[in-house]
Amino acid sequence: MFPFWKFAVLPVLRSIGAKRVVEIGALRGENTDLMLRDLDDDVELHVIDPAPEFDPTVHEREWSGRYVFHRALSLDVLSGLPPMDAAIIDGDHNWYTVHNELRQLTDVATAAGKPMPLMILHDVGWPYGRRDLYYAPETIPAEFRQPWRRAGMLPGKSELVDSGGLNPDMANATSEGGERNGVMTAVDDFVAAHPKPIRVVVLPVYFGLAILVEEDVLTHSAKLRWHFDRLEGEQGKDQLMKLAEHAHLKAMIYQHAALQRADDRHARVATRYLHAVAGSIGADDAGNWCRALVEAGAGDVVLADVDDAACITLALAHVVATDRDEVVRLVGASDAAVAAATEMSAGLGLDAGRLVRGVDDADVVGLVGTGTTDNDVVRRLDASGVPVVRFGGDPAP
Ligand SMILES: C[S@@+](CC[C@H](N)C(=O)[O-])C[C@H]1O[C@@H](n2cnc3c(N)ncnc32)[C@H](O)[C@@H]1O
Repeated sequence: MFPFWKFAVLPVLRSIGAKRVVEIGALRGENTDLMLRDLDDDVELHVIDPAPEFDPTVHEREWSGRYVFHRALSLDVLSGLPPMDAAIIDGDHNWYTVHNELRQLTDVATAAGKPMPLMILHDVGWPYGRRDLYYAPETIPAEFRQPWRRAGMLPGKSELVDSGGLNPDMANATSEGGERNGVMTAVDDFVAAHPKPIRVVVLPVYFGLAILVEEDVLTHSAKLRWHFDRLEGEQGKDQLMKLAEHAHLKAMIYQHAALQRADDRHARVATRYLHAVAGSIGADDAGNWCRALVEAGAGDVVLADVDDAACITLALAHVVATDRDEVVRLVGASDAAVAAATEMSAGLGLDAGRLVRGVDDADVVGLVGTGTTDNDVVRRLDASGVPVVRFGGDPAP
């Protein structure tokens, strides 16, 4: 939720003069860092996360006296904390957790004679506004847990999808909408049951942010009212569009870098695989035969009855290495072997378009076969005088 920091979160925290704030769900601590950097020295910050991806002791040392980290589930901790001026809720995105976080925070404040804390919640838009996510499904009581499975989500589609989609590794509720499902539904239910009117501002970008405050508090804080009006006004919408575009571009750049890294990793793995397979099945021989044939003169190389993807790919690598236009012609290879070789070749950065099925003997320079001559093409090429090399034993031409 850190993209909202300067535009929305910091201004509203400042405008209420928040002195004690809790952050639920910190992940890599990016938002935590912003809070520690930008909030005044007299602000006490509690952070709750059962599995942070940063070392909280670094913060504890650096910000000693104003920073308390709780390695726990929010609902095991919140009732025992002092009353908060504000809460930033970005932990487990399901109805049961969020509804009870809002309730516990409010009960503690009420018992201390204070208004409901300013609540700032992330993920009130798609995908978790109306669909539960469970970081640890077993921690949610069965009667409040939606049917779930680890599968991806698509916008506008209630059911999960079997391949692709967003967050396919997460425990997502199997359908969207309905009662007690999702973060925004928890907010709606909480607001409807709260004894005092609450103003809710929703910023519908970057998975959605909601800010909740009791109307009474707004009446007494002109600054906070001004910010709420700003966020919902024309100027706020304009800034929100810029923020959304910026976040979108950052996400794309991040994804492209991740894809590039994955491609490089796949290519390295494919190469290692290719060499391992080549070593075990003798594909090195086929590669060597191909190289010898290619070096013998211009013309395509035919692989007859070679049904191994690694072998075909290795042959293509030799043909491509000549920097000429020859192709590898495949005779008798199965669809599966051709498809696998095409994928493997692409993974290695080889032009898989140079794997061609069928043979035109006019421009064939050589033939590498599996040793069988029980094949029309092998017999025809043998008879036409092109160099024929049997895979797996014959000397190179
Ligand atoms: C979406 S991430 C938080 C992102 C973070 N606020 C930011 O802006 O960078 C959710 C985090 O919530 C934590 N979490 C999951 N269940 C929780 C719970 N019941 N109480 C507190 N934190 C929880 C997860 O460990 C995870 O680090």
